Amino acid sequence: MPKFNFIERNDTRFNSVNWQKLGFGKYFADYMFVANYRNGKWDDGKIVPYGPFEIEPSMMTLHYGQTIFEGLKAYYNVKGGINIFRPDKNAQRLNNSAKKLVIPEYPVELFIQAVKEVVHYNKAFVPQKRGESLYIRPVLFGNSNVLGVHPSDDYMLIIFASPVASYYEEGLNPVKIKVADNYVRAVRGGLGSAKTAANYAASLLAGQEAKKNGYSQVLWLDGVNLSNIDEVGAMNILFVLNGEIITPSLEAGTILNGVTRDSVLHLAKSMGIKTSERVISINEIFEGLQNGKLSEAFGAGTAATISPVGILSYKDNDYVLGDGKIGTISQKMYDTLLGIQYGEIEDKFGWIIQVN
Ligand code: COI
Repeated sequence: MPKFNFIERNDTRFNSVNWQKLGFGKYFADYMFVANYRNGKWDDGKIVPYGPFEIEPSMMTLHYGQTIFEGLKAYYNVKGGINIFRPDKNAQRLNNSAKKLVIPEYPVELFIQAVKEVVHYNKAFVPQKRGESLYIRPVLFGNSNVLGVHPSDDYMLIIFASPVASYYEEGLNPVKIKVADNYVRAVRGGLGSAKTAANYAASLLAGQEAKKNGYSQVLWLDGVNLSNIDEVGAMNILFVLNGEIITPSLEAGTILNGVTRDSVLHLAKSMGIKTSERVISINEIFEGLQNGKLSEAFGAGTAATISPVGILSYKDNDYVLGDGKIGTISQKMYDTLLGIQYGEIEDKFGWIIQVN
């Protein structure tokens, strides 16, 4: 199976992991993939020990943020082996982000192979507990050392891995979300649909203020009128209105094309649940809450999986969804998605790639 050169380490990071309390993104597995882009082409790429690497103070990305990343997961399969979930979608999205940030694309087939090898060499780090997984983080950035503002000449792609538990401390308990009414994340024509550092940087201040007030995350509205719903920085948002799953459409280019969002929409269709991707105003959501037609809201993301929303706060008023517990459709999506990811439910969609 291996294609890339492999440099073995003479120790392991395994014992430095607190396996009883993984949290999210705190521990890093033994090996990472590295490929360099120089003189207009990608080199062969190799698997090397995870660890620090040197950069110069003038390295462009530190200053101008020409960097994109991805997030995907590998799961233990209850029948043996390891499942990687939809790496092709991440490869395509990485290249879509690359176009927006004027970064050279990385071939989809090589990306999938690199992810498979990162999982293969780090297989001891795939947690065996349901709800836990090996999170894989590809990051691609310009690394020329120049101070002029223009695209970099040189780039580096690194793919490393981290054994993780749930992203939110709440786990599957509903999270409290604050609707941002005085900050914006993205605007039409901007970088909103790219998985790039700028979007996460734009979320930090609002996120910090929301946290101080007891909320886990911020729900972003459109950046012009602050009236239509976009996404929650770490996940997409879906609502159940009149029994139908509705979610903001990708058309405006202001939200991330989430792999979990897409998977939920496919699962819903296969279950006979109506779905709609469209413009959703914040007023429509509050009307639905008041007249009882909005029964559930949940976030969907690789890190967050399915994350029920228990409270939406808007202009200092807290609105409780359902009875504050996970809703029936959110639970069904969670169970089915995890069932497929852990190999308990047949993968009718061809989403899983197995690695041994
Ligand atoms: C992911 O879900 O993979 C993400 O990149 C979200 C990030 C905030 C952890």
